[in-house]
Amino acid sequence: MILIEKELGAIFEETIKNIYGEQEIKPIDIEAASNEKFGDFQTNFAMVNAKVLRSNPRAIAENVVNNLVDNNVIEKIEVAGPGFINIFLKEEYLGDRVRKISTEKYDLSFLDTHGDVIIDYSSPNIAKRMHIGHLRSTIIGDSIKRIYRYLGYKVVADNHIGDWGTQFGKLIIGYRNWLDREAYKANPIEELERVYVEFSKNSEENTELEDQAREELRKLHEGDEENYSLWQEFIKVSLDEYNKVYGRLGVDFDTYYGESFYHDMMPAVVEELLDKNIAKEDDGANVVFFEEKDKLHPCIVQKKDGAFLYATSDIATVKFRKENYDVNQIIYVTDERQQDHFRQFFKITDMLGWEVKKNHVWFGIMRFAEGIFSSRKGNVIRLEHLLDEGKKKALEVVEEKNPTLSAEEKANISEVVGIGAIKYADLSQNRQSPVIFEWDKILSFEGNTAPYLQYSYARIQSILRKGAENSKVLKEDSKIILEESAERSLVLYMSLFPKMVMKAAESFRPNLVTDYLFELSRRFNTFYNSCPILNQEDEILYSRLLIADRTAKVLKEGLDLLGIGTVDRM
Ligand code: ARG
Repeated sequence: MILIEKELGAIFEETIKNIYGEQEIKPIDIEAASNEKFGDFQTNFAMVNAKVLRSNPRAIAENVVNNLVDNNVIEKIEVAGPGFINIFLKEEYLGDRVRKISTEKYDLSFLDTHGDVIIDYSSPNIAKRMHIGHLRSTIIGDSIKRIYRYLGYKVVADNHIGDWGTQFGKLIIGYRNWLDREAYKANPIEELERVYVEFSKNSEENTELEDQAREELRKLHEGDEENYSLWQEFIKVSLDEYNKVYGRLGVDFDTYYGESFYHDMMPAVVEELLDKNIAKEDDGANVVFFEEKDKLHPCIVQKKDGAFLYATSDIATVKFRKENYDVNQIIYVTDERQQDHFRQFFKITDMLGWEVKKNHVWFGIMRFAEGIFSSRKGNVIRLEHLLDEGKKKALEVVEEKNPTLSAEEKANISEVVGIGAIKYADLSQNRQSPVIFEWDKILSFEGNTAPYLQYSYARIQSILRKGAENSKVLKEDSKIILEESAERSLVLYMSLFPKMVMKAAESFRPNLVTDYLFELSRRFNTFYNSCPILNQEDEILYSRLLIADRTAKVLKEGLDLLGIGTVDRM
């Protein structure tokens, strides 16, 4: 199905060609009308193209309106103000589109989807359980992945885990000195966290420990057998734990190439930087200095003692991706604190002449009203605990609303609704605003929340069920009647879905999807309150059943872009 905006654009283009001949006109932008009175859509192309067409906007608009080519899309068209064009669509055309919503895919072939889009997200530093500080990168990244896939991009989801950093030296020391075998057997990652804290405590008094940890890390990086196998074990127990959380969140990855994966590639990267005079030796270290206009701090790519850094591994990562994928774009999702890091190494890869489109999609950090989370302060909330709380709250609601459901069904509903609420609370924020963590907010079920949308979905399913029980089964080929303004406004809004998804992809903003879905539900509720369904005569009945069904389909598809599920009753 061609997008409405494209279809309208083509009609205007042809009309302009008929009137003015072949001209290099600027793209015709079609937007949903800001007010019902102005029709369904509006365009300002007469103003934008006044220069090219060497006429005044109002005259162009009138000319186009009076000479519009034959079509079965537009019912009525009028000029407004200095040269806006208001467009009213044919009811039949709109109806036809709603009917096709689940049977025909949108034609998005005009998008340039060649090559791979690599999305680098979640990427926790290993050997700690995931806490709410890990939530944002994980679910924003996952939603961007879903949005790009929906539009037809080939996406590679990469979890760039932090598996090579200084924590390993400390863990190795902690493991050797303070590990409780029994506790480790019972809950390995909890025990690793404990010995890590033990290390921090002890190193405050015993400063030698830090040196020892550095030494163990160096040995690990040089391939020492014992350290290497311990390291592998730490990774395994961490990933086993993370995968539980990822499973519940419905998040998955194609690759888990962590920092360690790039270790052997880093010497060649530094060599290339030195060869090309991009990096210089400075007091024993290798450093990239930037031009003053770039306003970037110098970036160390290799320390005096030979060690490589975070930036070095990210430069190596770009090289690897360039050589091993047909990369079109790389998208990195991290918190705001890494902006300088990304600016630095993006610039370095530019200096190397490696042309790859890269975006750092950063988000505001989540904190408590009284300050940032810190494992050392012990004020972290583990992600699993948060998900359990969400589920618990949802279960209370289900128990109250639907006490007769089976225990299994209740458990299933509360998992979907509880986790949906948490994800949505995060995804519906402007990505770059800081988030203050509040239990009430993240577990809210009212207003602009996932449970509210899931409830609209379930309500539609219940209408369809009740209809079917009374031999009023949905008919796929029913005529759509748009007499009531609530019907028209709902149906029209459904047709805006694909363009909205494109905008969300361009700006990496899942909150455009949440805003859209909330407005869709709102329009559905207005429709449902003013347009009864099951007690109507055939024509209206089947039209409304179909409108309701398609609303549910769009809701489900939109929630899926956020990684949020639906249930048939709740
Ligand atoms: N592990 C890093 C952290 O927790 C995030 C990695 C982001 N990805 C990247 N390619 N640098 O801060």
